[in-house]
Amino acid sequence: MPATADRVERLLERVGRVLAPPAVPSRRFPPPRRGATLRKHDVAVIWLHWFNAVVWALELLTGGALIVTGRYHIAPAWFQELVVAVFGSRAHLLRFHVVVGVLWVAGMLPYAVFGFRRYVLGFFRNLRLDADDLVWLWRKARSLVSPSLPLPPQGAYNAGQKLFGWVVVAATLVIIATGFVTAFHLGPQWLVAWCVPLHFVAVAAVFAALFVHIYMAAFMPNERPAFFSMFTGRVDARYAYHHHAKWYHEVLDDCLAGRRTCDAPAPEGADADQTPRS
Ligand code: HEM
Repeated sequence: MPATADRVERLLERVGRVLAPPAVPSRRFPPPRRGATLRKHDVAVIWLHWFNAVVWALELLTGGALIVTGRYHIAPAWFQELVVAVFGSRAHLLRFHVVVGVLWVAGMLPYAVFGFRRYVLGFFRNLRLDADDLVWLWRKARSLVSPSLPLPPQGAYNAGQKLFGWVVVAATLVIIATGFVTAFHLGPQWLVAWCVPLHFVAVAAVFAALFVHIYMAAFMPNERPAFFSMFTGRVDARYAYHHHAKWYHEVLDDCLAGRRTCDAPAPEGADADQTPRS
């Protein structure tokens, strides 16, 4: 069995190298001093993330109550009746769902228009899967039976977070397109009819992935520093050194090279207690 697992790993590594060779940090730094932090998310990203989370909560709640046909409904009848009662009628509920969806798009547009390089391209750069990521996914699955298996170093996001990110990006585009076609009847009847199940499937994909995302982010004790970073913007440097090593070395390298503004860039080889601000 280990021989087969190793062969699969070597195959994945080869496939990964074709996709993207593993990013190797140009310099390596010593572990940081206890208590040092690194800037990971800026305020605009934190706002967008929590705005997105609130919108998802509202849309799931109202959308779940809206999906009722003669053939299926996903939420129990009591839930649908309760939500419709809160809004007064199904028409009000639908209007609320559509208005929140339009506000969601309006809230994201400034990032796409005015911050395309920083937020859109920057996000896609962080989501790029390389050979280390494919091996990480394979070893993570294997670590269920062999917990001591070492994991390859990770960038700003680990491979699991990257997959989640891709699901969110793809599903968001489908949800927005199908949502607009359905809400404003943009197109022939057959297109509107197809957009309804497509909208639902895309939401279901994110909904399933969200269980893992929220569990990992909010309930896994060793992911606690990442959870706090989505409020403060800063992440514990020791956590970054152990869980996101490639990102840690890249940030410190950028810091010393002046590509990133740092609070206190340390000289090369010194105890790496840098706290980048950008
Ligand atoms: C209570 C709900 C949520 C919690 C506690 C939460 C927590 C977090 C945390 C802590 C991070 C930072 C990870 C890191 O820097 O290593 C993050 C990132 C992210 N979150 Fe959430 N999140 C929630 C809801 C959502 C929702 C609803 C979405 C979108 C559907 C979402 C999409 C993302 C994406 C795309 C990222 C960046 C990539 C990633 O870390 O997976 N989150 N979230």
